[in-house]
Order: sequence, then C-alpha cells, then structure tokens
Amino acid sequence: MPAHTFHACDPLTGTISVPGDKSISHRSIMFGALAVGETRVTGLLEGEDVMATAAAMRAMGAQIDKAGEEWRIHGVGVGGLLQPREALDMGNSGTSTRLLMGLVASHAINATFTGDASLSRRPMGRVIEPLSRMGAQFHGAPGGTLPLTMQGLSPAVPISYRLPVASAQVKSAVLLAGLNTPGITTVIEPVATRDHSERMLKGFGAELAVEEVAGERIITIRGEADLQPQTITVPGDPSSAAFFMVAALIVPGSDLTITNVGINPTRAGLIEVLQAMGGDITLMNTREVGGEPVADLRVRHSALKGIAVDPAIAPAMIDEFPVLFVAAALAEGTTTTTGLEELRVKESDRIATMAAALTLAGARVEETEDGLTIHGSNADPLPGTPDGAAVATMLDHRIAMSMAVAGLASVNGVRVDDTAPIATSFPTFVDLLAAATIAQQS
Ligand code: S3P
Repeated sequence: MPAHTFHACDPLTGTISVPGDKSISHRSIMFGALAVGETRVTGLLEGEDVMATAAAMRAMGAQIDKAGEEWRIHGVGVGGLLQPREALDMGNSGTSTRLLMGLVASHAINATFTGDASLSRRPMGRVIEPLSRMGAQFHGAPGGTLPLTMQGLSPAVPISYRLPVASAQVKSAVLLAGLNTPGITTVIEPVATRDHSERMLKGFGAELAVEEVAGERIITIRGEADLQPQTITVPGDPSSAAFFMVAALIVPGSDLTITNVGINPTRAGLIEVLQAMGGDITLMNTREVGGEPVADLRVRHSALKGIAVDPAIAPAMIDEFPVLFVAAALAEGTTTTTGLEELRVKESDRIATMAAALTLAGARVEETEDGLTIHGSNADPLPGTPDGAAVATMLDHRIAMSMAVAGLASVNGVRVDDTAPIATSFPTFVDLLAAATIAQQS
C-alpha cells in the first residue's frame, strides 16, 4: 500500500496529454476479439482494468499483442469464443466484468468471474437479471456479487429490455449478448448514458439502430452479426483529463492545455458544470478522432463559485463527481449535488468515501442520501490531512487522484493511504502531475 503525500505546488502550465479512454479501450479489445482478421489500436489505455479485459479475451481464444505503439488483435468471430480454462480475474474492473458477462451469455461456454475486494462488493444483479432472461444461468452468487460462475446459452433468446438504472455497462452487456443471438435484441434507455458501444459496434459493421421516441433512446441490434476488423485511434480519456482540469482551476497561476480529450456529449458534463461555476475552460481545435469528438482544452486558474448541480447531468459525468467535490471545496459558497445514488456502488461508495476524505483534509461537507453538500473555502487552501493521518482510498483510483488534486491546494498536504489503485485507469498520473508542476512530493 504505497501511501503518498500530495503538497501545494507551482502552477500547472504547458501542454500535456492524458492516456486513452478507458471505456473505448475495453471495447476496442472486446470487439476486435470478435472480428475475423486484424484490428489495430493506437492510444490504447494500458491500465490494469483494460489489461484484465485483454487477458480474459485471450483466455477465450483471441490473440492480442503489442507491436511498437500499436496493439494488434486477431479475433475469433462472433459466436467463436472458447471455453476459458481458468477463472477470469477481473481485478478492480466493473466494466470488464459486466460487458464480458454479456458476451459469455450467448456463447455455449461456462465462465467463472472473480475480482478484488472492491469489485466483489459491487452489484451484478443488474446484469444477471437481463442476461438470465436471455437464457444464461448464474451460480454461486446468492447476493448477486462475485465470485460467480455463469453458463451461457447458444442460441440465446432475444429480449427487449428497459434499463431500470442509467448504466452504460448494463446497456452494453445486453447489446453484446445480442450480438450472437438470433433476431433483434432491443434496449430501451430512459436516460442517455455513454454511447461508445453503439458508435463502435456500428463502426465494426454490426446492424445497430438508435431511435429517439418520447425522450427515450431505443437501441436495436441484429444478432449473429459479422464484425469487420478496424483501425482505431483511442482519444484521450475525459475522466482522466478531469483531474488536471480541476487542478489547473484551483492552483493559482495555472494555464494548462490538455490535448486530444474526448468530448462526446455523453461524457462531457464536467466541463459544463465547471464552466457554470466560473471555470475558465476553452475548447480548441474541435475535431473527430476514431468516430468520437475530441478537443484540446485550455484551462486557466479561476475563482470558482458554488452551484446547485442539476441531477440530469449526472450520467454525462458519473465518474467525475469525486473531483468535482474537490473543486467545490475550494469554491466560494455552497455546492449541492443530488440524485447520485449510483455513486454508492462504484469502486467505493464515492459519496461516503469523499465525505470522509474531504472532511479529514479540512473541507466542510455534509453527506445526504444521494449526494454531498459542500461549503467552499472561497479559494483558501484546505488545511490538509493532520499529522499521522491519511485519507482512505478504499481501492478506488478516482478517490486517490481526487484527493491528490486536493493536496495541491492545501496548507499541510493531503496524505493518501494507497496510491496503487491509480494504475487501474491512469498509470502515468503521478509522473504527469510532476511534469505539469514542480510538485514537492514526499
Ligand atoms: C462505463 C460505464 C460507467 C462508468 C464506468 C465505465 C463503461 O458505469 O462508471 O467507469 O465503460 O460503460 P455504469 O454504466 O455502471 O454507470
């Protein structure tokens, strides 16, 4: 458990780029592994979560290698996944687990999924329910948590499924099960979530349609698809850029450009919220990379003001709330957030974990059932963690990085008990932070 103290630093300046998008990286490997022929991927995130997906796809027959800067994937074809010999270790990754369960559901194979302590607490009932309707069977998961074993069914049964929770993982699990299911599988999404699966499956040649009816998204996919191999450039992850955006906003004198950041509207909510708080963020050179909109973001230190965050924007920034809470802790006035129940079932309970972490660092925070109310310091640095104390990361990469950012605007520094989880999504975070600042870290 490497603990680390993050201290106040010089301004963040210059130009950086963040690693590839985690969601798109997972899907590049999975879809490439189902196409016949060679898929080539550059900019792939080489974090532990994505490597867990790669290991699982190899265990089910795909060939996945790196040559220079490029990843090459030789797929088995839709319907061609092989029986894995051993349990699939999903590490910390909910995305790997839920999407792969979708894939296995419509293959006649049996797979056991295991994960770390964080993942083993997270709800899998949300995918077990629709995938069972399609014919998959699940064993050993009385509480709907890992470890569990599933038996897929081929041919599976196409369903029409209305998502009871706003979850791109559940949506994707059903669509991926539908890929190898005869006929049409339908997912109805009352609240839009990240749409990378839809964009990328279409790009790989699947017959997938999206219709908007009465404010709902109706997604249909025709099964027994043939996927064509693709050449993919993965854009920078907006969820990783988020930490540098907030760091530049709260550290006086900062003027930082982050290049090649994905700004897909289903992911870009944080930019909008920070701008509404007075954050000086300019989108430059907006363009398209690999079927996704990207931009370079210029972020300058700003006097932030607290706001009431509209819960309707939550799905478009679901992973960014921990670092938004840090921005709010430095703002003038009060920020309220509501409608964030889903944060309680992420890598940690992000409402409780951030309330405890920010309180320990000297911020004024009130926890409610579905959000946090944060009374900002009006740009005064936070006191920081008391001597001998460290914030509890709870195996959650985004808590570790958010509190590292809080440390940059603190008097005594913020000690984070365990920085190891950062490697799940952003292995170069600490080095990049050092490059953007002249951080005095211990
Ligand atoms: C993801 C979807 C989100 C997000 C996760 C990645 C994805 O989870 O929190 O980090 O790649 O589909 P939910 O779909 O459960 O909200």
